[in-house]
Amino acid sequence: MSAKILLIIHHSLTGGTRQMAQAAAAAAQAEEGVQVRLLEAGQAGPEDLLAADGYVFATPENLAAVSGVMKDFFDRSYYGALDRINGRPYATLICAGSDGHNAARQIARIATGWRLQPVAEPLIVCTHAQTPEAILAPKQIDAAELERCRELGQAFAAGLALGVF
Ligand SMILES: Cc1cc2nc3c(=O)[nH]c(=O)nc-3n(C[C@H](O)[C@H](O)[C@H](O)COP(=O)(O)O)c2cc1C
Repeated sequence: MSAKILLIIHHSLTGGTRQMAQAAAAAAQAEEGVQVRLLEAGQAGPEDLLAADGYVFATPENLAAVSGVMKDFFDRSYYGALDRINGRPYATLICAGSDGHNAARQIARIATGWRLQPVAEPLIVCTHAQTPEAILAPKQIDAAELERCRELGQAFAAGLALGVF
């Protein structure tokens, strides 16, 4: 049987989301029967969605929303994928300063429109950056938080490989 494709679409301004996406990708890739595609949101489009079996959407929360680059990916991809990916599984990774829930809600609404099935609650990591200097500084995500991302990637990939999702 051919490998299931897990597409991880991500965008990151200061590196936090990228580390989360990479952690999930590494753990997922270690599962037999799964091929991971880790794509920057700016480089991804509807054809990538059509060619995959499951999705991880990973974004910072910026101004109480998904990042602009991630929104652009959804805007460019929404109608090209509509009614062509129904029922496929997805998960959400959010890197936030202090909240993250609005970005998670936005992705959930888009995923509902696509008729995707969530495999987990949105995984939100808060960096606790509050000042402009801290917000603009490069991020280093804690090992424990990266472990949560790895666990999500591993569980998602295992479920895909087994045909659970
Ligand atoms: C323009 C801008 C707006 C932001 N708005 C929010 C926000 O609404 N809620 C929040 O929790 N964090 C907010 N943040 C903080 C980022 O989510 C946080 O720094 C996160 O680590 C960024 O992820 P990244 O390192 O992948 O870019 C904002 C950051 C920027 C640069």
